[in-house]
Amino acid sequence: MSVSTATASGIPSSRFVLLKELDKRGFLFFTNYESRKARELDESPYAALAFYWREVHKQVRVVGKVEKVSKETSEEYFKTRPVGSRLGAWSSPQSSVVREGEVKERLEKNKARFGIEDEHAAASDIEIPLPEFWGGYRVVPQEVEFWLGKPSRLHDRIRYTRVAGSPDDAPQWTIERIAP
Ligand SMILES: Cc1cc2nc3c(=O)[nH]c(=O)nc-3n(C[C@H](O)[C@H](O)[C@H](O)COP(=O)(O)O)c2cc1C
Repeated sequence: MSVSTATASGIPSSRFVLLKELDKRGFLFFTNYESRKARELDESPYAALAFYWREVHKQVRVVGKVEKVSKETSEEYFKTRPVGSRLGAWSSPQSSVVREGEVKERLEKNKARFGIEDEHAAASDIEIPLPEFWGGYRVVPQEVEFWLGKPSRLHDRIRYTRVAGSPDDAPQWTIERIAP
């Protein structure tokens, strides 16, 4: 999905990430908590998501407040990631300027640090702890739009806006059709 964030002064930035999970409260993705998107979320804790499925000509858009998931949730997911991805999280100061080869050097250091010979090994029993600078965010939707492509640009657009209730407890939504 595309995730857009913005600085406190409203300058936006977008990137694609993996939607890892949809739970009762919202949409979860995982990343580096010191990355550009993370710094922007510190300044302005809102995000817009966009999904597009070309084959079925559908789009979904989401706007919501962003919160960090619990450390336990991040740990649980981190453990399931391949060894190489876990080492990669440790080795990449995401969004920082780096020298050519620097990330590879960091990777080699982390392999030695955690006693790993082959980062492509399937070994899920290899212990690599969750870095404190890595984890998940949850976008708690305030608005969701379902867009369905139709002939002659007369697309269906249905917008859900949360009007009452907490995200956990019987949220109520206004449902409106909007012009294409
Ligand atoms: C298909 C796709 C999936 C991606 N998934 C993730 C992801 O789940 N988490 C992540 O941090 N970056 C992911 N990336 C990389 C991000 O697009 C981005 O380069 C990175 O998160 C740094 O973004 P930032 O500098 O704006 O913080 C993905 C990129 C692509 C193209």
